[in-house]
Amino acid sequence: MFDGFAHVWTPVTLAGRLKRNRPLAVTLAGEKLVFFRDASGTASALLDRCPHRGVALSLGAVKDGCLECPFHAWRFDGAGACVSVPLNPDAKRERLFATALPTRELAGLLWVYTAPTAPSVPEPLVPETLTRADLARTGFEVTWKAHWTRAMENMLDSPHVPFLHRNTIGRFVRPYLKPDTRMDIEWNETPFGAVLPAFLDGDRSRESGNLEFWKPNMMVLNIMPDQKFRIHALCVPAEENHVRMIVIGTRNFAKLALLNPFFNWSNKRITEEDRAVVESSWPTRVPPPAEERSVRTDKATLQFRRYFFEVLASSRAEAPTLALPP
Ligand code: FES
Ligand SMILES: [Fe+2]
Repeated sequence: MFDGFAHVWTPVTLAGRLKRNRPLAVTLAGEKLVFFRDASGTASALLDRCPHRGVALSLGAVKDGCLECPFHAWRFDGAGACVSVPLNPDAKRERLFATALPTRELAGLLWVYTAPTAPSVPEPLVPETLTRADLARTGFEVTWKAHWTRAMENMLDSPHVPFLHRNTIGRFVRPYLKPDTRMDIEWNETPFGAVLPAFLDGDRSRESGNLEFWKPNMMVLNIMPDQKFRIHALCVPAEENHVRMIVIGTRNFAKLALLNPFFNWSNKRITEEDRAVVESSWPTRVPPPAEERSVRTDKATLQFRRYFFEVLASSRAEAPTLALPP
């Protein structure tokens, strides 16, 4: 399960979508999940499949902090333990568990570790701009009809900015472009992934893009590094050829919540410019490097492609074995 995206922490969706007393069905890397909140408000995720007869638990209801299946009203807690089996007071409930996934609620996002039976699970790494209390934050979520790897590469690709985004963020770069301008891109590995500055004609004071890659699927663009004015783009695989794009902007100026719609609008406009080209890419999943023509300024996307093929492409998590009914 989670083929091609196993054994990683990933944001799944904006936490605000998960209300109290209402389960939330979400697809992640081809697997159906259900989130719900227990009595204390803590979020949990289970495979959206009742261990009894395979019914979608998300069709059920949250009762007393547990998720109740709509079919025969078995109840499960956030760890997947079966806590109630109506009409069967003698049931061996410890054999009737649902499958829980390691879950966190961090930075206004619901996170899941894509391996339900992993023996040890590290903690997710999160950019500090997503958790700092002194920054204004606003985000949105939109689905693109594309494989997540094409979306991720797009987000790590600086050389397209002055062309595809000529009327938005790219217009700040265009004045520096001459017919013989050269762009250099670095890929400096870090514990979280990599920092990849891009600069023109060897002049580091005129960085035309200051990007970070957070494994496995987040890009952070430092628009004004001193200002914490950043765009975080999360490329969450939903299903094959559907990627849930979560875009979160942060800023330490103009922090009035009243201004959030404006910043969201601006980020939506930029990402819409990307959507059309990403959805048009063929093959849908990024191919091995030898199957496309590349140049020096593709350094960052080629490094991502190496990570994808070496680490993720063949990854899969062990599917849990469900207990037999008594
Ligand atoms: S199918 Fe879920 S309780 Fe029977
Ligand atoms: Fe772009």
